[in-house]
Amino acid sequence: MKAILQQLREHVGAALHSALGEQAAGADPEISRAKDAKHGDYQCNAAMGLAKRLGAKPREVAQKIVEALPAAALEMLETPEIAGPGFINFKIKQVFLEASIGAVAAADDGHLGIDRVAARDAQTVVVDYSSPNVAKEMHVGHLRSTIIGDTIARVMSFQGHRVIRQNHLGDWGTQFGKIILALWHLCMGKRQGETVADFNRLADELSRIAKATIDAKRPLLQKRRDIHQENLASDPTGSEFHSYLEALQPSFEILLPAYRYVNALEEAAEGTDLTVTDAQSGETYPLSGVSRYVAAMLQGKAGRDNTQELTAWKKAKDATLRECNAIYRRLGVLLTDDDICGESFYEPLLPGVVEELKSALSASDGQSGEIRAVCRDDKGAVCVFLEKPDGSPVFKGAQGDPLPMLIQKSDGASLYATTDLAATLYRTHHATTHPYALRTKALAETLAKPPFNNGLGADRVIYFVGFPQKLHFEMLFATVGALGWLRKGARTIRMEHVSFGSVLGEDRKMLRTRAGDTVKLKDLLEEAVQRAEALVRASEADAEKRRGFTEDEIRSIAETVGIGSVKYADLCQNRNTDYVFSWDKMLALQGNTAPYLLYAYARIRSIYRKGAESISPSVDTRVTLNHPAERALAMKVLQLGEIVEVVSDNLLPNFLCDYLYDLAGRFMTFYESCPVLQADGAAEKASRLALCDVTARALRIGLGLLGISTLDRM
Ligand code: ARG
Repeated sequence: MKAILQQLREHVGAALHSALGEQAAGADPEISRAKDAKHGDYQCNAAMGLAKRLGAKPREVAQKIVEALPAAALEMLETPEIAGPGFINFKIKQVFLEASIGAVAAADDGHLGIDRVAARDAQTVVVDYSSPNVAKEMHVGHLRSTIIGDTIARVMSFQGHRVIRQNHLGDWGTQFGKIILALWHLCMGKRQGETVADFNRLADELSRIAKATIDAKRPLLQKRRDIHQENLASDPTGSEFHSYLEALQPSFEILLPAYRYVNALEEAAEGTDLTVTDAQSGETYPLSGVSRYVAAMLQGKAGRDNTQELTAWKKAKDATLRECNAIYRRLGVLLTDDDICGESFYEPLLPGVVEELKSALSASDGQSGEIRAVCRDDKGAVCVFLEKPDGSPVFKGAQGDPLPMLIQKSDGASLYATTDLAATLYRTHHATTHPYALRTKALAETLAKPPFNNGLGADRVIYFVGFPQKLHFEMLFATVGALGWLRKGARTIRMEHVSFGSVLGEDRKMLRTRAGDTVKLKDLLEEAVQRAEALVRASEADAEKRRGFTEDEIRSIAETVGIGSVKYADLCQNRNTDYVFSWDKMLALQGNTAPYLLYAYARIRSIYRKGAESISPSVDTRVTLNHPAERALAMKVLQLGEIVEVVSDNLLPNFLCDYLYDLAGRFMTFYESCPVLQADGAAEKASRLALCDVTARALRIGLGLLGISTLDRM
């Protein structure tokens, strides 16, 4: 079924055309939901703008539009009213609403009768979300990206778009030298009898002395260097390391302390003259830069066999994925290993991308877009400068100097931005629907082969990444715009950075544990479930509230409510703002919370179950909307499809939350004023039960789009 809003848009669109002819061509019918129910259900605001354009009186234009409405519009509408400066107010006829909600009640499609987009309008949408980093715990910032991104992915699939989830895992770059080195220390430390706890302690000690004078920190650093050198010499070919890796099942418990150690050691060694010599190659490098050397090795740049480094890197990646997957499963998000497309995936494209930018962006003339991009060397590094048409820089540093996007360092290393350029190419390019005229032949060839297989051909790419990366994405979008990569026939590929604010503690500072550490997602979710369980148990201990749940039921309710509360508390905020994380608020049974909605759902289901038993299947289930509360409820149920459309456009899940909260509220009003189980006669009872049923279905679908499952009993 087509959404009412959509039907009105089409009718008014037709009226605009027949009343005003070509003058109104392409004009937006400007239909919106009425702010105040007193004025009707919807309103049209198009007359004012059109009147200005035509030099006519707005109310007269409005009158013409009303007179030109097609017959089908009049079947759904009471006589439209013109108000104020030229608004047209629409009230939907009761019979039309009854027929519509009746059709929804009868539609058993799991989709509440909501239309999917027509095949020709279905878009390929790439959603880049979660995207944590290897060997790092996911933090609350990744939580926001994960659940907001997941909601949008679900919303767009529900509409019928082709959604491609991409988990842009941070799995490449200089920090990988540190990870590999951490594993090496774990392996070789065994010779000195060093344990994970020792590395933790050493990391603490080294961070403490990092800022001390060189003389003060030398003894400990010298000792660590000597052990390092000794270990290198004792296993020059790395065969011991290799067999250690083969047998290793690394977990965060062992990886993170060792990783901290490497970080702390290198930081403390900064500025000292301590060096280490590679036993095999004889090369000497600073103690503060060992990991950089290892990273170069991983990337095969040292011209030496890098199997060991690759194995270590893969182990660390596996450990991270195990950790992430456990969180994804608990959170009930859709991401799986199939969606992992990390930074390392793009490695083969990077040299070609740099070449392509150098050749396509060698000068700003000849570029058509608003913002021009020029790629040039800057002290040995390759940079993209973004300029306005008058030549002034789009992005400026603190001193007002042009701020370029760095795509290759002077040592030849590529960067986060280079990978994102390659990712954009892979995601938007398509051999048949959107082929790029790439200048770099090798790049085109690599793109055509596995694993790139000619690209994904996206019409829209959405990045769910925190606010601090705003500049990065602005530069990225400007550069690919200037390259012409976003022009797809007559359309432009939509690139969006969906950012979000921070999660704050009750003290309005960044959320931290009591001990002052960053909050680990795993612990946060566990606490949510425990708190929810305590609440269920407390209510079970109360003779008046007791429902007699089994142990299994208690645990499953606690899981759904606990996780649902954390997700909902996040999603119901406008994502652009920071919000204060409050257990009491998110777990409350009153207010715009998951427990309130889950409870409303369970309650409606229970009313329905009771009522349905006594309804004979032969009763005509026509839905009647004689009471204003019935009408208001039905109207809201019918608007779910409109809200889905709004959210897929503005990428603000809080609109869906507000809708669900309002829907549950309207149900409560309806239930207070319209007896369901004690209704007057079988027909009224059946009609009201049908309203209960469609409301429950709308709630379940809506919560499902937020990735929150429902409970039949609570
Ligand atoms: N791994 C990055 C981080 O944790 C986020 C990556 C976002 N996606 C992207 N295509 N840049 O900050």
